[in-house]
Amino acid sequence: MSNPLEQLPDLVATALTTISSSVSAEELRGHEPFLVGKRSPFTNLQKTLGSLEPEERKAAGARLQEARREVEAAFEARADVLSAAERAELYETDRLVLGDVVASKISLPLSAGHPGVVALTQQSLEDVFVGMGFSVAEGPEIETDWYNFEALNIPPAHPARGMWDTFYLDLGEPETVLLRTHTSPTQIHLMEAAVTTGTLPIHAVMPGRCFRRDTPDARHLAAFHQIEGLVVDKGITFADLAGVIETFTKAYFGPDIASRLRPAYFPFTEPSAEFEITCTICRGEGCRTCSHTGWIELGGCGMVDPAVFRAVGIDPDEYSGFAFGFGIDRCAQMRHQIADMRALTDNDVRFLRQFS
Ligand code: PHE
Repeated sequence: MSNPLEQLPDLVATALTTISSSVSAEELRGHEPFLVGKRSPFTNLQKTLGSLEPEERKAAGARLQEARREVEAAFEARADVLSAAERAELYETDRLVLGDVVASKISLPLSAGHPGVVALTQQSLEDVFVGMGFSVAEGPEIETDWYNFEALNIPPAHPARGMWDTFYLDLGEPETVLLRTHTSPTQIHLMEAAVTTGTLPIHAVMPGRCFRRDTPDARHLAAFHQIEGLVVDKGITFADLAGVIETFTKAYFGPDIASRLRPAYFPFTEPSAEFEITCTICRGEGCRTCSHTGWIELGGCGMVDPAVFRAVGIDPDEYSGFAFGFGIDRCAQMRHQIADMRALTDNDVRFLRQFS
């Protein structure tokens, strides 16, 4: 009797070719009954095994089973490959559709970011001073003791250092490197540079971030912004200082806001003054914000102390000058009537959105 399994290798080869040449899951499914199902040649062969001796039947059955498993495994693997490819293609089409949706949404009003109120305030302050003939300069936020204090006529251990609660950096000798407590050190950088390059006079404003060990409250932040002004020229007087402050106040806050100077003390200016503006909340009537005085303190100013000129190598008999400095955050607070300055750092989008 001829071996019924003689054609088995050919059947397997044909089945494997059919499987591998199927190009879609649907086509493969069409072949399924003839490959692994009831109508497959393997099922027919199975039937012929009954004519074999029990021993032979067992061995032949095992071979047939093995061949069947091989075809079934190839079928499953191919089905997986084809359906994965089809899924990927579907995702690709869906993604394009989604892409179209996104593209169509871009034409809707999306809210783009914009500079915050402090940056905007700094820009408009710079604009006002540039309009008055000042140039704009910047200095480093990390300073040495010399620039932040000593050159500004504040010697080591001078009690005036208590005016600025300082963050010192753990660099070099203790208490020699610090986060600047005001923008006044930039005055020193500018004057040193002007002396070195022979470019006096100076008419400059210097905005920037400053740091003090203050507990934040409604009117103070530990990291805040100042803008410094410096004029060094021949024949500059206190009247020039008062005129610049008044012109700035009117230009920035409006014609109904005035400025006034009150005697004060700063080690680097002599005489020194605090400058105040009409309270922008009550317009001078008196309210809680201005402690019922009608005035709000904005910053400090004065005539450059001769000791400062000597520290940078400018002859105080030849040159005179004035300086002023005030808080940019405080300005924003006054101009926009922001009750609590901490709102500037809260990052609440409902607050930020109001200023653009
Ligand atoms: N640097 C001073 C401060 O922050 C302000 C100031 C600047 C005073 C310039 C006088 C002249 O307190």
